[in-house]
Amino acid sequence: MKIGLLGFGVVGRGVYEITAARDDMQVAKVLCLEDIQLPDAEVTRDFQSILTDDSIDTVVEAMGGLHPAYEFVRGALEAGKNIITSNKALVATFYDELIPLAQSKGLAFRCTAAVGGGIGWLSELERVRRVETVSMVGGIMNGTCNYILDSMTRLGLDYAEALSQAQALGYAERNPSTDVDGIDTWHKLILSANIAFGVSLDRDAVPAAGISKISAADVSNFKEHGLTCKLVSTGTQADGVYSAYVQPTLYPQGALEAAVPTNFNLITLDGEVSGRQSFYGQGAGRYPTAYNVVQDCVSQLAGKKFYCAYGEKVNVDNSVKLTYYVRGASDAWLEANTAETWDGAVITAPVAVADMHAWLKNNPEAFIAAIAE
Ligand code: HSE
Repeated sequence: MKIGLLGFGVVGRGVYEITAARDDMQVAKVLCLEDIQLPDAEVTRDFQSILTDDSIDTVVEAMGGLHPAYEFVRGALEAGKNIITSNKALVATFYDELIPLAQSKGLAFRCTAAVGGGIGWLSELERVRRVETVSMVGGIMNGTCNYILDSMTRLGLDYAEALSQAQALGYAERNPSTDVDGIDTWHKLILSANIAFGVSLDRDAVPAAGISKISAADVSNFKEHGLTCKLVSTGTQADGVYSAYVQPTLYPQGALEAAVPTNFNLITLDGEVSGRQSFYGQGAGRYPTAYNVVQDCVSQLAGKKFYCAYGEKVNVDNSVKLTYYVRGASDAWLEANTAETWDGAVITAPVAVADMHAWLKNNPEAFIAAIAE
């Protein structure tokens, strides 16, 4: 396998290093805007040089962002090259275009590193689907949020202190919105659910609530009630009805999710035969992420293309009712749905997930967290 590697940042450099030790694949060209020299690969600033090189059969996209990653990946597919990417935003956003294009051309399109970093989550879904149907996917998919919530819970930090520690450690970006507003988890949920259920979810109907409004007072409140807060994704299917959402969720201290430390991920599926299976590990970082990029290259050599056949577009029905902790805003709807209060915060009666997220949209200063059942 001859690889054209797009990007030589955290993940790209890791891919280069791991593949350098292998005989079955070789990074032939690297697209990189910096002035670097590599002993055994040509470095270019011109994507055309990779696109028009017939010896390159596979493009590994490790640039991140939507543009120009989308134009490069689409161009590479049109030119008959297989795609391996770690870019969850790219795949979730252009799912309906890129997956059918790859499948119509008989090309590989793999993105295992996009969800769970070093955890073999999407590739395991591919294996699970061979034997059984999956009724639920989800869990802790964002290491940055887990680090912030864990620091607030274990060390008693307030949100701003925990965020700035996460930034100092390189987990959170200078502008942390993609992580803390739940968008990164949202991308990962859409990819996981599409593959697990063999469909394409109506993304616009999948809401995401983040953690940026949580306070140290909320965390004390949770502790007093024996609960721990995590940012969690949930996707379910039953009898052709699909539900999907991202939100802070409160777990009793004995739950597996409550014990997930620092920046780790814990991702779970429910299979009709195998039951509940959870996958724990490093969801980010150079070598865990590059590891799964290289695993995808090996899978491609073994003839594995995408994880499932591209499935039909389906509606999302979030009428399932949950109980929520709500603080920071009030109105007639919330008052009508209040079951009790915890030190000034509202605990709702069971309300539809869709209604709670619609309320949050109109009350963006509020913090909400579902209470796990
Ligand atoms: N920002 C992501 C996280 C990186 O914190 O999990 C890995 O997708």
